[in-house]
Amino acid sequence: MSVKFGLIGGGVMGEALLSRLINENIYKSSEIIVSEPSSARREFLAEKYSVKVIKENTEVFSTTEYVIFLAIKPQVFTTITQELSSVIGQSHFPLIVSILAGVTLEQLEAAFVDLPVVRAMPNTPATVGAGITAICAGKNTQPHHLEKARQLFSAVGEVVEVSENLMDAVTGLSGSGPAYVALMVEALADGGVASGLPRSVAQQLALQTVLGTATLLQETKLHPAELKDRVTSPGGTTIAGIAELEKAAFRSALIQAVKAATNRSQELGK
Ligand SMILES: NC(=O)c1ccc[n+]([C@@H]2O[C@H](COP(=O)([O-])OP(=O)(O)OC[C@H]3O[C@@H](n4cnc5c(N)ncnc54)[C@H](OP(=O)(O)O)[C@@H]3O)[C@@H](O)[C@H]2O)c1
Repeated sequence: MSVKFGLIGGGVMGEALLSRLINENIYKSSEIIVSEPSSARREFLAEKYSVKVIKENTEVFSTTEYVIFLAIKPQVFTTITQELSSVIGQSHFPLIVSILAGVTLEQLEAAFVDLPVVRAMPNTPATVGAGITAICAGKNTQPHHLEKARQLFSAVGEVVEVSENLMDAVTGLSGSGPAYVALMVEALADGGVASGLPRSVAQQLALQTVLGTATLLQETKLHPAELKDRVTSPGGTTIAGIAELEKAAFRSALIQAVKAATNRSQELGK
């Protein structure tokens, strides 16, 4: 059987995608090849997913027909592309999909000359299938390539398409966002403990409140402000809490957090 999907870098993100592509029958184990430097990791991935796992990135590139997925750290991008330069453009023209933070389409296209390229920014909830990934297309990318990228990332959550100049803003919102939400869950639980709840109960209440509210907003398509109005009765408990959040500039803090993370992403990309 031919190899259709090649994964370079079998780390956290690579494994998340691998497991779901197989589970959702997008690719069979026998159609996947992975390259990974750590022998323990190679053994683990081969054993768990029944895929071929090797050391050589060049072999992944030259044997894969359709999609090469780059899931290495951005710091090793140059090393990898130097290694691959002997096999790029030799015989076939697979779609290159990169999730490397800060590595631009221009850099990808300079390394993978004439190949269709998709740059993507997933986030950590992708590891449990609840991520959101922003994708943008390079100049050699046809609609069917973009469709393929959509299909791949749909296996680990939702997908949106943006122009590349918005990738830093995506990083500032959905890329860094899981940390903001984690901070909020922690603080809500602390508030519960401060109000007398046992830690484990406070933690459960905080987490399920965030999860449940997100699900409610998603399923009803209610505007967040409308949901807030619906649960805020005159002179009640919720408006007393909201007044404190406004005093502490809660919304402004989140707006500034996204802007600061976006700016930092822009700086790191220079
Ligand atoms: N985690 C996230 O939430 C997230 C979100 C958006 C984007 N990303 C991007 O996703 C990429 C991967 O992140 P990650 O969290 O999955 O990192 P990770 O777990 O460290 O995975 C990287 C993998 O690449 C392997 N590797 C290192 N050098 C290699 C080489 N020369 N050839 C082939 N494989 C090599 C590493 O092996 P060793 O461990 O043995 O070195 C590791 O298994 C990064 O570029 C990051 O910017 C991650």
